[in-house]
Amino acid sequence: MEAERRYSFGRSGASARSEEPVPEAEDDQGQEEAAHVVPDDAPVDIEGAFRDSNVQEVLDKLDRELVGLKPIKTRIKETAALLLVDRVRTDVGLPAAVPSLHMSFTGNPGTGKTTVALRMAEILHRLEYVRKGHLVSVTRDQLVGQYIGHTAPKTREILKKAMGGVLFIDEAYYLHRPDNERDYGSEAIETLLQVMENQRDDIVVILAGYKDRMDQFFQNNPGMHSRIAHHMDFPDYTAEELLEISNLMLEEQQYRFSPEAGETFREYIELRMKRPNFSNARSMRNALERARLRQANRLFAGGGKGLTKKDLMTIEAEDIRASRVFQEATGDGEDTHER
Ligand SMILES: Nc1ncnc2c1ncn2[C@@H]1O[C@H](COP(=O)(O)OP(=O)(O)OP(=O)(O)O)[C@@H](O)[C@H]1O
Ligand SMILES: [Mg+2]
Repeated sequence: MEAERRYSFGRSGASARSEEPVPEAEDDQGQEEAAHVVPDDAPVDIEGAFRDSNVQEVLDKLDRELVGLKPIKTRIKETAALLLVDRVRTDVGLPAAVPSLHMSFTGNPGTGKTTVALRMAEILHRLEYVRKGHLVSVTRDQLVGQYIGHTAPKTREILKKAMGGVLFIDEAYYLHRPDNERDYGSEAIETLLQVMENQRDDIVVILAGYKDRMDQFFQNNPGMHSRIAHHMDFPDYTAEELLEISNLMLEEQQYRFSPEAGETFREYIELRMKRPNFSNARSMRNALERARLRQANRLFAGGGKGLTKKDLMTIEAEDIRASRVFQEATGDGEDTHER
């Protein structure tokens, strides 16, 4: 049976051929003994371990539900492969040093950092790197206190909540205020660093924020920089990707563009990308919310007679065209604050 074979490579394979010569020496005495029982040519079943972890399911979901982000997806797969190989190595008595998986996610607003962090937590859980796989998302205010002596306990409290999962610190550079030497942020950083080092097998810390400000932050905090092995940069989406993301978002809510609305939204994206406060996929989500609002009002204003299910699902061009973005394109300087 598949399932039996999967688990048999370490133990039973070893007992059958235990007189085999000791494999390549390990520097650790205990490891050498463990390696002694499994011969070098013992078969290992990485595929089985992969199947067993169910991680493919999450990777597929990642591919399906997240548009673009090629380099990020590749890094996630590489990380999964590393953890998987480590697990199989442990099974045959080889040392597998706990890799440091703390990360930084840099990129502009709405490029998918929070979304990917959630998926990462799930993947780390399936690969048994963390016990629970939940994500605790915080900003400076939840880590740093107002008064002397408040910060360390506050940070520890959050770390406790995140243990067994992922701690996501958004806009992490606010932890460091270079203009204020006595800022309590540095106390939070110290507390974080200790746990990131000593309990790295039970928590993964992800720092997120704009790239230039994170770079600056790491320059000012070399201790933090040296503990973060994985730096992932989230690129801005192209107009094409934004359209694809929008279609996915509509689909999720059982809406769709009429063919004309699809074309109008394409134009909308081009214009919106040049406007202030553009925030990638988040701007798309907001634009679709407003389109839904206009659609509802249109249906309502029409008296609601003779409507079909299809009407309830369809966003028409006029629902997009009414956006301020089109008016501003003709010279009207109205503000486009979104949130
Ligand atoms: N590649 C993608 N495919 C599909 N949807 C996406 C993608 N990237 C982001 N989204 C969606 O866009 C929204 C914003 O994404 P998210 O919150 O992850 O971005 P962020 O980088 O954390 O932004 P911020 O810096 O503003 O916190 C979410 O609703 C998310 O589902
Ligand atoms: Mg976010």
